[in-house]
Amino acid sequence: MKLLLDTANLADIRYFNTYYPIEGATTNPTILSKEGGNVLELLSSIRAIIGHKKELHVQVTETVCDKMVEEAEAIVAFLGPKTVVKIPITDEGLRATAILAKRGIDVTVTAVLTAAQAMLAANAGAAYVAPYVSRQENLCADGVGTVAEIVKILDSSNVQTKVLAASFKTAKEVLDVAVVGCHTATVSAGTMRNLLSHTTTDTSIARFAEDWKKAFGDVTLLGLLKNK
Ligand code: G3P
Repeated sequence: MKLLLDTANLADIRYFNTYYPIEGATTNPTILSKEGGNVLELLSSIRAIIGHKKELHVQVTETVCDKMVEEAEAIVAFLGPKTVVKIPITDEGLRATAILAKRGIDVTVTAVLTAAQAMLAANAGAAYVAPYVSRQENLCADGVGTVAEIVKILDSSNVQTKVLAASFKTAKEVLDVAVVGCHTATVSAGTMRNLLSHTTTDTSIARFAEDWKKAFGDVTLLGLLKNK
């Protein structure tokens, strides 16, 4: 399952883009509002960090189809190749998605809570549908189950649409959607760290270093190879 970083924080994007195998970054109005300042400069900076081979997802703020389409085209013109426009799942959004898909602009239909919404978005030509996992789980609904349903519907249909699962609060939820065949997920910096970190990994690595040092001292294998 491919991973994107769900943030507009430049330090986090710089860090995870350097060290982790991420395919890009996703934003929305809430995420951008957390950083504040000049939003166009912020988006340009994100694009400069990730380059044009990775995806940058940016959500429209207009709510009526014609304006959403105009805004989407302006966003793509501003941020260039590999920009994906996020459009919320509404009547106006579905129509805008269909128009943009015909014009070759990739759309992530977002704020998806049900498999029925995802099916409509896929039929409209969305590149991705973004089901919100934790927002369902928090309401005692089956967020992971919804992702599984959507994966099944899309993989058995004649559509190119992929699932971009979003809204995670735990690393376990991310793993759970991967297990049910989710294509892509976007996660926060904290959750991304939790996917990697494990105390037993840390103690194992510390033990390797301790045992090596006891037997061979401060030299490294590289040092030995260079001086052989
Ligand atoms: O991309 C937006 C989505 O991930 C929302 O996340 O944490 O606000 O539910 P959250």
